[in-house]
Amino acid sequence: QPRTVAVIVGSIRKDSVSRKVAKAFAALTPGLTFKFVQIADLPHFDQDLESEPPAEWVRFRKEIAAADAVLFLTPEYNRSFPGVLKNAVDVGSRPYGQSVWDGKPGAVISVSPGAIGGFGANHHLRQSLVFLNVPLLSKEAYIGGAYALFDESGELTNDSTAEFLRGYGAAFTAWVERILA
Ligand code: FNR
Repeated sequence: QPRTVAVIVGSIRKDSVSRKVAKAFAALTPGLTFKFVQIADLPHFDQDLESEPPAEWVRFRKEIAAADAVLFLTPEYNRSFPGVLKNAVDVGSRPYGQSVWDGKPGAVISVSPGAIGGFGANHHLRQSLVFLNVPLLSKEAYIGGAYALFDESGELTNDSTAEFLRGYGAAFTAWVERILA
């Protein structure tokens, strides 16, 4: 039975290149089962709502809790990760003491059409995840020049990126097994 990985994509737009990378990565990583988790519908975190949490929060927390591991794909917004993704991280971290992130093995892949590959987003996200006790694969994944890697239909056409993602998938699969062992 393959381990299940909740995939959280930090862009909610239809043509997101981060989501394309997520799909390509999942296809190149046969040893894990990937489940994409929706974040676009999550109401902004507000501690006042916690006494009667919104249904979307409850669903999101359940989906993360049910997964063996978590994978984050993030674009970079102004040298950090998008607010919609920060909101999802925050929603999952509460109520205090019931964080769904705690102890779950994870990995971060940042994606950008630019040359720096979302370095700033990657490391800001890592900072939050370290605080939340997500044991992160240290191996880094910065996917730069990302628009040029896919064809019109969203298929990954760059061989060296495919090779990189396959290797990253193998490393993540081994990491998940090691943490859960
Ligand atoms: C960006 N973009 C961007 N790119 C980058 O490499 N570094 C950055 O700091 C930023 N900042 C930024 C801010 C905002 C508000 C937007 C909307 C965009 C460009 C970004 O990488 C590009 O739009 C990607 O296509 C976003 O990822 P998705 O939606 O394609 O997954």
